[in-house]
Amino acid sequence: MLGEVRITPSILNADKSHLQGEIAKIAQVSDLLHLDIMDNKFVPNLTWDFDAASTIIKSSPLPVDSHLMVADVDEIAVAYAEAGSASVTIHAEACRDIRQTLRDIKSHGSRASLALKPATQISEYADFLNEVDMVLIMTVEPGFGGQKFMVEMMAKVQDTKKLIGSRDIWLQVDGGVSLETIDIAREAGADTFVAGSAVFSSSDPAQMVNMLRARAMGQ
Ligand code: DX5
Ligand code: ZN
Repeated sequence: MLGEVRITPSILNADKSHLQGEIAKIAQVSDLLHLDIMDNKFVPNLTWDFDAASTIIKSSPLPVDSHLMVADVDEIAVAYAEAGSASVTIHAEACRDIRQTLRDIKSHGSRASLALKPATQISEYADFLNEVDMVLIMTVEPGFGGQKFMVEMMAKVQDTKKLIGSRDIWLQVDGGVSLETIDIAREAGADTFVAGSAVFSSSDPAQMVNMLRARAMGQ
């Protein structure tokens, strides 16, 4: 019954002056590294520019899960695939041609993923499930780490899980995932979990990743 679970730590709130060291702390125990790209337009915050992100992607010991919180994402998404991201997530709200952009991401060898902000319904985007490798249901408003998990998003996670059916599509949640909330998200159908502050504000980030995984697996 219990399938695979993936833990994808976000370095958004890790110590940016010692990023390689921070990544090394979780590299042995994590599935992917979640890289939050923000442009100060789609969300009111700015993180790494493309050159800095490319350097992180190319030097990461873990495959990189690039979460693009940027406006007009169509072209930049392709650049993140070309830069070597294992997975590229675009926001439905920020994309002109979703189908084409998902296809372009895949044509460059990356997994293609579609994200929805809390106010966006999955029913509007059900047609795109044939094009995706992952769906990301945001469990906070995108923009900042350390926010409270929106338990009211669990209905959307359940609906998405139903729509996915037997297809091999990962279902990711992002925002406020912790030891207190991960089992709720797992119960609703999520299998891929972003955790930022829970991991990097912990005194032992690797142990926290292991604990989150165990909790998600009902152990
Ligand atoms: C928020 C980002 C998240 C963030 C999660 O917009 O997409 O990936 O890093 O941080 P926590 O786990 O602290 O909510
Ligand atoms: Zn994210």
